[in-house]
Amino acid sequence: MLWSDDKCISLAISFVKSLRCVKCGTQFDPRKVVYSCQSCGERLDVTYDYEAIGDRISKDVIAGRQEAPCLKYGLLLPIFDFNKVPTLGEGATPLVHCRRLGEELKVGELYVKDETRNPTGVFKDRATVIAANKALELKKEVVSIASTGNAAASMAAYAAKASLTCIVFVPEDTPVGKLSQSIAYGAKVVQIKGNYDQAYDLAVEASNVFGWYNCNPANNPFRTEGKKTLAYEICEQFDWVPPDWVIVPVGNGCNLAGIWKGLKEFNELDFISQKPRMVAIQPTGADTLVSAFKQKAESFAPIIPRTIAGALAIGKPRNYLKAMKSLKESNGIAESVTDEEILQAQSLLARTEGIFSEPGGAAPLAGLIKLVRNGVIDSRDRVCCVATGNGLKDPEAPLRIATKPTPIAPTVEALRLLDVARI
Ligand code: F0G
Repeated sequence: MLWSDDKCISLAISFVKSLRCVKCGTQFDPRKVVYSCQSCGERLDVTYDYEAIGDRISKDVIAGRQEAPCLKYGLLLPIFDFNKVPTLGEGATPLVHCRRLGEELKVGELYVKDETRNPTGVFKDRATVIAANKALELKKEVVSIASTGNAAASMAAYAAKASLTCIVFVPEDTPVGKLSQSIAYGAKVVQIKGNYDQAYDLAVEASNVFGWYNCNPANNPFRTEGKKTLAYEICEQFDWVPPDWVIVPVGNGCNLAGIWKGLKEFNELDFISQKPRMVAIQPTGADTLVSAFKQKAESFAPIIPRTIAGALAIGKPRNYLKAMKSLKESNGIAESVTDEEILQAQSLLARTEGIFSEPGGAAPLAGLIKLVRNGVIDSRDRVCCVATGNGLKDPEAPLRIATKPTPIAPTVEALRLLDVARI
């Protein structure tokens, strides 16, 4: 039976084999609630029977399916019951060929995967739909998550759709756009006097104490799987010849790890013959992974994060091992960018291509500019930057480098005095 046959969905076929520890390889039952390796405490990875999947899907079968990516690529996801997928229409986002910006930056071909178009304005929705599916399959009524703002808002929206109670833990300085999303979607918002790293630990502990289903990035092994759909779409949208580089912003590293896993899977299934090199970008004030990568260190040194890119203000990347492995396996690189460079890139992307991304989502473009300047990325290269989150979520950010308008009288004289050409 091919995946193009909808009976596959009603039969709830799943090709998940196990949850396997990324460090010691111990395997766990994927139908039970297991967050981390019970032998060594490391992260878990979902394993699949790729041979069986390969018998059922092909490039043509995939290209022929029009539904939400979590269903379209469903055989490669850890969904056991396809009737319990509370999709809001996430994914299937545009791949924008940025000709003008590419010329300006002297990049051979520049594309932006515009993830700002997701239902809650962030790529997280791809992961959240899977987490919500798991909560429903496991008959959980309460889901919890810690977040710098986006993952919380996303979880709140999908919990609303799935009739789940949602408890979110966010830091004190969460931008108002993200906070009001969580409130509007009906989540119980716990704002803590502290940063994301503290919120993360509290969410894990409270979930254990109260029996909530914890959907923290990295802690929940199923979330990252949802991010693979971003890679699958990139392959399809590049007509099965992916770019030379895929540049992503890194906080916990789930995004990087998920995209790389998706690329590896499509390569293993022979859908693509070459894999891109991954580039991890972090702000200088939260550059744990970048520092460890450049110093070839065994582990990262935790820091107190300080950056305008609130989405990436993480001092302990919780998916460090998976993210670092992804960088090494892809012959990738890591680079840090200043807040000023991020804000300039945010403005440039909006002004030249009409894509308004929040600072964290503009970090890849800032990284690209630096890597071209340093001669790492060549003028013949094909590059894909992932713009992960919508600018409206953190509306104050662009005003830090722009002049705010001063209201004038509604008259032509006042307008003349203002001199529009000089604004
Ligand atoms: N871009 C945006 C817009 C994000 O919100 C995040 C993470 C990232 C990039 C980094 O992704 O953590 O997988 O490396 N936001 C999390 C949150 C931490 O709580 O919303 P990552």
